Amino acid sequence: MSAFKETIVFAVANHKGGVGKTTSVVNLADGFSREGLKVLVVDLDPQANASLHLGKIHPSRIEITCAELLLGGVDMLPNAVHEETNIEGVSLIYGSLGLGKAEDELQDHTPRPSEELRTKLEPADGVYDVILIDCPPSLKLLTSNALAAATHIIVPVESGSQYGLYGADDLLKHIEKIRRINPTVKMLGALLLKHDERQTVCKLLESTALKTFGEILPVRISTSTKVNQAAVMQQSLHALDRTSKVAREYRQLSTELIKMLGLTAKASEE
Ligand SMILES: Nc1ncnc2c1ncn2[C@@H]1O[C@H](COP(=O)(O)OP(=O)(O)O)[C@@H](O)[C@H]1O
Ligand SMILES: [Mg+2]
Repeated sequence: MSAFKETIVFAVANHKGGVGKTTSVVNLADGFSREGLKVLVVDLDPQANASLHLGKIHPSRIEITCAELLLGGVDMLPNAVHEETNIEGVSLIYGSLGLGKAEDELQDHTPRPSEELRTKLEPADGVYDVILIDCPPSLKLLTSNALAAATHIIVPVESGSQYGLYGADDLLKHIEKIRRINPTVKMLGALLLKHDERQTVCKLLESTALKTFGEILPVRISTSTKVNQAAVMQQSLHALDRTSKVAREYRQLSTELIKMLGLTAKASEE
């Protein structure tokens, strides 16, 4: 069973690298927070790109990152959460290079190695409206931990590439395995990124993604050089240029998800 009754926990997962997981986590966090929701980003990637984007401190200087949280005691959460980030209303648990080693240690020393994150995040249920987990580009234990903690899964897919769905079956098989420990997790579907509906490859990929994942999220994200620019500037796309197409698309995606899941700002009212 999912440990979360009040908080929606998104795992943003795809073991392919460079598809737009981190970009989507950062800009959905921004969109949700603009809608008045209380948001926590959990960076489970050893490369810590979400932390470099959102964090005010360099990940190497953070004492309690996801690595320490995963291996530490159950009362560690409050010390792992940083409320000050580059996006107002978004809190962060940093990722770090140490996550690679933590993954090995979890495997060797924990009885239920896939369930550590869920256990550690459980006290956050009801404290945040939304938790977004940024996954590493692999299908190993860190991603298993994200999928086991999640209430909902989003799979970013690069739609402008003919290889965009390469490995999708492995991901789906992995999710099916995780259902043994998290039977209620919902697949929200593929999020098409770097999408251009005029291109044949995008159209083809869209129909295959629908068959593969069963669902496609109702907003597609187009290709834009603003994405890289925003990461370099440590800003959201909205903050960089609110009138840009890609900023608008991420805003729309957040409001669609809010509608689809009936998300309300419960946590913030307290
Ligand atoms: N919609 C987009 N348009 C153009 N470039 C993008 C877009 N989304 C992501 N990128 C770029 O692609 C690269 C990978 O994105 P990222 O979000 O880090 O992927 P992942 O987390 O899956 O590895 C980055 O350089 C990012 O700037
Ligand atoms: Mg990433």
